[in-house]
Amino acid sequence: MTPAAIIEPPAMMELHRVWKVYSVGPVKVPALSDVSFQVTKGEFVTLHGPSGAGKTTLLRLLYREEIPSEGEIQVLGLDLARARRGEVAALRRSIGVVFQDARLLPGRTVYENVAFVLRVLGTPRREITARVFEALRAVGLSARAQAYPAQLSQGEAQRAALARAIARKPLLLIADEPTGNLDEGMAAEVLDVIRDVWAGGTTVLVATHQKALARTLRRRTLTLQNGRLLKDEG
Ligand SMILES: Nc1ncnc2c1ncn2[C@@H]1O[C@H](COP(=O)(O)OP(=O)(O)O)[C@@H](O)[C@H]1O
Ligand SMILES: [Mg+2]
Repeated sequence: MTPAAIIEPPAMMELHRVWKVYSVGPVKVPALSDVSFQVTKGEFVTLHGPSGAGKTTLLRLLYREEIPSEGEIQVLGLDLARARRGEVAALRRSIGVVFQDARLLPGRTVYENVAFVLRVLGTPRREITARVFEALRAVGLSARAQAYPAQLSQGEAQRAALARAIARKPLLLIADEPTGNLDEGMAAEVLDVIRDVWAGGTTVLVATHQKALARTLRRRTLTLQNGRLLKDEG
């Protein structure tokens, strides 16, 4: 008799003994040292650690903005060391990224900022308007579609950046210090949106140096310090 099938949870990402060493002139700066972990589809993971711990470096490896010095990384089943250019492009279409500073195009309205990315990603023209408004509704910015970035509060700008990241309906949302520039109230609004996105089925990875934020999220927390994964708990 064959044993009952063991169904492995589908891995969203898998890092195996990953090192990243930057060379600054003759000096080698280890940003990540021997980091291994897995994230399953549908998880909400907080990446916590002080400034300089390696959080941003780790996130950049996941969408292949950087390549590891050593070790293996799989994201969405794709082995990043062996991925072809087209596969990397497809991967980036499946990942939405938000940074601490919203990085909106200043000369374009909120609507155009979101639509622009969809156009670049090759979304059929007839779908774009509906997708933009769906994303703006999700972040509570429908009424601000025609505003320019300079007219937005920092919290609104950050929610517009979130709309831009989620309009592609990503499988994975990566947020690097998404509330770092915001006061408490605006930070809470942004976190609520991220939680909603997660509740809709998107896997979420949020990096923060703010202990209070890591605590509020009360999810699985990976703690990085000096490039090492110290704890994986929750
Ligand atoms: N492009 C780079 N070149 C050289 N050193 C870098 C580079 N990016 C990051 N580092 C160094 O790597 C370490 C980790 O940085 P980073 O990943 O930005 O940490 P965090 O996001 O947790 O603040 C730091 O010592 C930083 O100075
Ligand atoms: Mg950082």
